[in-house]
Amino acid sequence: MSTYMLDTATSRANPTPAPMKRLTVPKIQAMKGGEPIVMLTAYTMRMAQLLDQHCDMLLVGDSLAQVIYGLPSTVPVTLDMMCAHGAAVVRGSWHSVVVIDMPFGSYEASPEQAFESAARILKETGAAAVKLEGGEAMAETVAFLVKRGIPVVGHVGLTPQAVNALGGYGARGKSEAEAAKILADAKAVADAGAFAIVLEGVMEEIAIQATRAISCPTIGIGASAQCDGQVLVIDDMLGMFEQTARFVKKYDDFAQHVTDAAAAYAAEVRSRAFPGEGHIYRARG
Ligand code: KIV
Repeated sequence: MSTYMLDTATSRANPTPAPMKRLTVPKIQAMKGGEPIVMLTAYTMRMAQLLDQHCDMLLVGDSLAQVIYGLPSTVPVTLDMMCAHGAAVVRGSWHSVVVIDMPFGSYEASPEQAFESAARILKETGAAAVKLEGGEAMAETVAFLVKRGIPVVGHVGLTPQAVNALGGYGARGKSEAEAAKILADAKAVADAGAFAIVLEGVMEEIAIQATRAISCPTIGIGASAQCDGQVLVIDDMLGMFEQTARFVKKYDDFAQHVTDAAAAYAAEVRSRAFPGEGHIYRARG
């Protein structure tokens, strides 16, 4: 039985008689060096409801490209897609800080373009913050947004929106020069005012150095347990896909559950065992 009731006055899912208070950006910042920050991606209202009480932050990642839409990369993702899924996740959450990815092409041209896009995201979704990819080159934009009241999460190391320039999704920072660049990127974005930085697909030593060097929390994915927090793509950790990156730990085998349930349903439909007595309406009397 679902324990969730939709509070139509606030459009917030209200799963308990005394809902937890929503965390804030300053509270996440204050978690630096303390209990690790728990972050997962979410793309839908119901998944947000299920994850929310266990997380500090929910990320509406542009990984929805592959996870939800079957696209080959995050490059084709649009602001419309991020706003629709972002609003659903905010409606399904009451506790976590919801962060929404700025899609490729919505922020790189200028700080002003980034502001327009980020403001639209926050207005249309009710989320608290945006995330954008890039290091030194994006520092001016991060500072521009932060000064205007838009909390920003940075994302350096393996930056999937740059797949065409990087040539793939391999781990970053294997050479000294690349390692130094990733560290400089993390520092630049932190100095520009990001309240947290995702470190993706980097050699562990870089993640540890960056975590020590910058004042905001680092959130690792394929980075290090020494980061200030961790994030995973929800469908990856649930085991929805056969092939995942090395850094993914599968906590379940959801693909098998779905396949088993669909097979059981199909067999019952074909044998006319479903719908049974409890699933049909009969006139009384
Ligand atoms: O889009 C996404 O899901 C992300 C995470 C992998 C950090 O950016």
